Order: sequence, then structure tokens, then C-alpha cells
Amino acid sequence: MYGNIRPLKSPDGRGGISVSKHNVIIIKGPKEIAIMRDANRIVAEILAHLGEIIRPGITTGELDAAADAMIRRAKADSAFRGYRMRDNTPYPACVCSSVNEEVVHGIPGPRVLREGDIVGIDVGVMYKGFVGDAAATFPIGQISPEAHRLLTVTRQALYKGIEQAKPGNRLQDISGAIQDHVEAHGFSAVRDFVGHGVGRSMHEPPQIPNYRTPGWNPRLEVGMTLALEPMVNEGTWRVKMLSDGWTAVTADGKLSAHFEHSIAITDNGPLILSQV
Ligand code: MF3
Ligand code: CO
Repeated sequence: MYGNIRPLKSPDGRGGISVSKHNVIIIKGPKEIAIMRDANRIVAEILAHLGEIIRPGITTGELDAAADAMIRRAKADSAFRGYRMRDNTPYPACVCSSVNEEVVHGIPGPRVLREGDIVGIDVGVMYKGFVGDAAATFPIGQISPEAHRLLTVTRQALYKGIEQAKPGNRLQDISGAIQDHVEAHGFSAVRDFVGHGVGRSMHEPPQIPNYRTPGWNPRLEVGMTLALEPMVNEGTWRVKMLSDGWTAVTADGKLSAHFEHSIAITDNGPLILSQV
């Protein structure tokens, strides 16, 4: 819609940047993608570990401390702590923990997780100059069938988006696939938060809405690295912000779930970076 993307080839023929009139998508070469794989493997290992220790009675602060210890052991840094969004206060923790009606960016603390809760955990690290970013929503003990369905549909929506992340497709093939899956199951895709390009910075162009928009729809190219992250609500897509300046909650108080993977677009299609 905003004109063509022209890849600028770097000496190895793979790196460089794609430029359009309105935005710059940074193309990574194989060496950069290899480092991003390492950064995202650390994130995936942390999420796997948190999935093992999470249980009724644990606090979100304890989950944050466990992630913090693993980030240090891996000789990485948190990509979240100190992060500033707009004129917000710096983010105070190394994970986000969003419980039940909390959509994203819940701040860990003394809150005790109870049987029947769901909690979205988002982890970001900086390793050798590159960011790893992924999230998953975990059930605490036994959860309701409806909560379970929300988790299943949200995870599936992420994979529907990933399937579309191949050279030749366009950005909004991802957005549309996510939206269609979510809405076919009677849920709604959050609009106020989006996925994003990821690389040396946590948030690079393009923004990746989880629904179709009249906006930018660039062609997807080999070497793009993207964080896809559907946030799916049981009821309305509308959200409100809490007074802590970070936590987004559903406007109707119903449940919300969030799954995120960082991926690279390769000649063979999508490569999920954030898995162990
Ligand atoms: N995955 C989220 C995002 O891409 C996590 C950011 S948390 C923050 O926006 F604290 F760093 F903002
Ligand atoms: Co992200």
C-alpha cells in the first residue's frame, strides 16, 4: 500500500535493510539469525522451567526471581527491566505476569496464584547484542473448560500466523490468519497491542497487528525476524490500563490469553527461534 520494499544487499548477499517510504525492516543475515536463535533458546528454556515450577501457591514475584536467576546464569540480560514505553515509568521486572483478565504487561509481585487461574508469562533477554522475546499462558492446576479453550485457541492462532510467515506472503497474511482463527472460535483479538519486528532492539518495524488493518502490508522476505504475539480475549477486544501505567486488563473483566514466538523467515519458510 505504501510502495515497494527494496532490499539492500550486504556483502554476504543476505544482510541489509528493506526500505519503504514509511518504515524500515531490518533484514538479518545467517550469523545474526544464529545469535538470535541462541538468545531465544534462553527465553524458551526459561519459559519451560517456569512451566515446571508454576503451581497453586507460588507468587508471580517468585516466577520473576527464577527467571532472573536463569538469565544471569546464561550470561544474558533482561530486555524488559528498565524498558520504557512512551512516557511510562521504566519496567521494573524481567518477566511480565498477566493473570486472568490481565492482558499483557502485568508486573510480578506478591500476588499468589490460585487453582483455576491462568497466567501469561512474557520473557525477554538481550544476548550478544540481540533480543529474544517469547510468551506463553499457563493454567494453574485445574482450570475451567472455557479457560482451557481460550488457551488452546490462542496457541493455535499463533501457529496459524507462523504458518503464513514465508517469503512472498505479505505481513497481513499473518494478521488475517490470526484474526480469522480467533473469531471463528467466538473470541476477539486485542487491537491496542501488536507483534513486532525484533533484532538488536526489542521493537523494530514492522508492527504486526493480530487483525486486518488498512495499514502497511509489506511483502515478507528472507531474513526478517518477527515476534508474533496474539493476545486473545474471551469477550470484547477492548482493554483498559491500570494505574500502575503498565498492566492492561480486559474492559469487561473476562479472561485474556497471550502466546508469543520470535521467528525468522527463511527460504524454507518460518523458523521458530524461541524453542528449546
Ligand atoms: N513481548 C512484549 C512486547 O513485545 C513484552 C514487553 S514488556 C516490556 O511488548 F516491559 F518490556 F515492555
Ligand atoms: Co514481544
